[in-house]
Amino acid sequence: MKQSVKLIAGNWKMNGSAASLAEIEAMKADAAMSPWQAEVVVFPPAPLIDRVSRAVGTAPIGVGAQDCRAEASGAFTGCVSAEILHDAGARWVILGHSERRHGLRETDAVVAAKVEGALRAGLHPIVCVGETLEQRDAGQAEAVVAAQVTASLPEALSGRDFTLAYEPVWAIGSGRTPTTEEIARMHAVIADAVAARLGEAAVARILYGGSVNPTNAPDILATPGVDGALVGGASLKAEDFLAIIRAV
Ligand code: G3P
Repeated sequence: MKQSVKLIAGNWKMNGSAASLAEIEAMKADAAMSPWQAEVVVFPPAPLIDRVSRAVGTAPIGVGAQDCRAEASGAFTGCVSAEILHDAGARWVILGHSERRHGLRETDAVVAAKVEGALRAGLHPIVCVGETLEQRDAGQAEAVVAAQVTASLPEALSGRDFTLAYEPVWAIGSGRTPTTEEIARMHAVIADAVAARLGEAAVARILYGGSVNPTNAPDILATPGVDGALVGGASLKAEDFLAIIRAV
């Protein structure tokens, strides 16, 4: 059965510095005032994971990475494995973000191998899928997203708890979002593709991502099939991110 607690994930992308620890302190103060109804995870750049994890302490804020290498260790200059991220304090990892699929030509097979690496190291994977505007305009959005789900999820996920994020590429950082009907429809397509790939018993939360902000969050989070949000720009300021967390 699906977990009922919604997940609000903040992807800092290539933003943040030691000064960002102040945002963590603001979040901790808010959580201490009254409990959040959502599970909350932040994804700082890799070099900040250790400091953010220490700053979080016992507060109800998970910490994750934005990517990992599939292999556990070896001669891969500049890369970071899931094991190293776990050692630094990460317990989550975003995989297959469109900025890596399109910007860095990461394929479904590469994403699936990274998911296996994440599971091996004990990181909870959030696997991103989503269509481009051209694919949507050509009427291919559902087929493209279903195919990404099928090819990006390794067998190793059977019986495991994991998360997917539907992020239409054209909605990321654009201020544009699909309608809530379109989001509901695509989340149903994704749930069907997960069941076809891993069996009906598969447990996956499906997040929506792409221009989520404090104004549209209440409607998006109330949409059928939406188990939370993967937030980019609006996760950088504690005030905005907290408004989205409180929208649950
Ligand atoms: O991973 C989150 C993301 O790609 C959405 O970014 O800035 O549109 O919320 P943003």
